[in-house]
Amino acid sequence: MENESKHRLAVIVGSVREGRFGPVVASWVAEQARSHGGFEVEVVDLAEVELPLALPAMPPKLAGADYPRPAGMAALTAALEAADGFIVVTPEYNHSYPAALKAAIDWHFTQWAAKPVAFVSYGGGAGGRHAVLHLENVFSELHAVTIRDGLAFPNYFTAWRDGRPLSDEPAGYAKTMLDQLAWWSGALRAAREASPTRRERHRAARTCSPGGPAAPRSRRRRGGVSGRSRSPGGRRRPGPRRGCRRSPHRSRRRAGRPPSGAAAGRPGRAGPRSPGPARRRSG
Ligand SMILES: Cc1cc2nc3c(=O)[nH]c(=O)nc-3n(C[C@H](O)[C@H](O)[C@H](O)COP(=O)(O)O)c2cc1C
Repeated sequence: MENESKHRLAVIVGSVREGRFGPVVASWVAEQARSHGGFEVEVVDLAEVELPLALPAMPPKLAGADYPRPAGMAALTAALEAADGFIVVTPEYNHSYPAALKAAIDWHFTQWAAKPVAFVSYGGGAGGRHAVLHLENVFSELHAVTIRDGLAFPNYFTAWRDGRPLSDEPAGYAKTMLDQLAWWSGALRAAREASPTRRERHRAARTCSPGGPAAPRSRRRRGGVSGRSRSPGGRRRPGPRRGCRRSPHRSRRRAGRPPSGAAAGRPGRAGPRSPGPARRRSG
């Protein structure tokens, strides 16, 4: 596959702790992605990024391209912006994911939107699955699409040696995850190119910002004062402000989820669910 047709994949190292294991996992994941052949891979290490916890007054969703980020964050922002898809490599800290990862997520918004995110986690007995459950929740708020197939490495300290898992099984699970990620990266890139949703979202966000201009009449009707937003007794229910669009995720839920893997011609769900040294997040 030529470089232009490859999906741009950012492998994000979510841990910045001294003596961390994260880069070992990320390096193996990047190797799997490169040998898969469908991706142009960039490893993004959050330890190399300036990631203050204090955010500017306005959320990035509303500020769009004008969001004032520190200079030391520019490379991260550019990498997220350029990516067609992500693999987040995360450990589990107190049944969740590291604070640096949350900061990296919160400093951005459009950079995640309408892009697929897969997860590779590691930790103690749960293999980082608690962290991934939390991340899935967070990424849905960012209009990202989380990939069902991922890898979890329980007790990685006994399951890895010399920078790789002792078992061959995880490579097979990684292939399933990468196939899924490739399908979604292509589908969502085509969707982003075909439809100016990002620009529209940005415009809608500006309209919704305090003091922003009123939306055109047609959109006001759709988003604010339609029959649906009135209670049966005629009183207006609290809903989105005039001109503010409802979350596409809510609409997606109402309309049903995207086609299942089988219906969409994607690989099935076998593999990573099986018990083994690396398994998909489950109970
Ligand atoms: C603050 C902290 C909390 C942790 N909490 C959990 C936990 O809830 N579950 C778990 O399986 N491992 C937990 N661990 C163990 C980590 O999974 C393990 O240290 C792992 O190596 C962390 O990834 P890192 O080395 O890339 O930072 C915790 C580690 C730290 C430092």
